[in-house]
Amino acid sequence: MTEPTPRSPDHAIDPLFHTRRSPRAFTGEAVPEAELMRMIEAARWSPSAYNAQPWRFLYALRGDRHWDLFLDLLVPGNQRWAKDTGALLFLVSSVNMKVGDELKPSASHSFDAGAASLAFQLQAIRQGWHAHGMAGFDRDRAMTALNVPEHHRIEAAYAVGRMTPPAELPEEQRAREAPNGRRPITDFTFAGGFPAQG
Ligand SMILES: Cc1cc2nc3c(=O)[nH]c(=O)nc-3n(C[C@H](O)[C@H](O)[C@H](O)COP(=O)(O)O)c2cc1C
Repeated sequence: MTEPTPRSPDHAIDPLFHTRRSPRAFTGEAVPEAELMRMIEAARWSPSAYNAQPWRFLYALRGDRHWDLFLDLLVPGNQRWAKDTGALLFLVSSVNMKVGDELKPSASHSFDAGAASLAFQLQAIRQGWHAHGMAGFDRDRAMTALNVPEHHRIEAAYAVGRMTPPAELPEEQRAREAPNGRRPITDFTFAGGFPAQG
């Protein structure tokens, strides 16, 4: 039997952080709208420059009239597993922000939307669901099909659903679904600046 890749943090952290992962095996269970709203509520409290809150969430629930369109916007490789999730979303950010009465380009709209994205995903874990982010979708078609206004950027798509317990997967798929690891913290964390080059 293939052992799952261990996800052992090197420093003590809340298990929520390494429990979050991006599975591709889902049960087909629908996500109730109230459950999804709790995840978006968590995102709502994310920090953003000037408190501009540039994130916008577009969603379809499994079986509703938007579902087929949302699924169709994903690349085939993502459709294959996302069809078994219970909610599909696109996270959009507004490129401009209001500062006083002025509309100014935001230097951090994507960064701020990224904070909202993680809050959304962690809350999903707390509620017993998994949210899997995707860049694999037809961006041009999505802009039109989802009526995305000018000066907005689609940041990512998400599929949210109930993960199939690894023990219920055939061995080959279980191996493919094993959680991945991370580079050591010393690879990307430096006291006092980057090490001298050359
Ligand atoms: C912006 C973004 C785009 C991604 N696009 C895809 C995608 O199109 N298809 C996919 O299967 N996974 C996608 N992923 C998932 C990543 O592959 C995954 O987050 C990464 O391998 C780390 O694994 P983990 O989320 O299980 O910890 C994406 C993740 C992010 C953050």
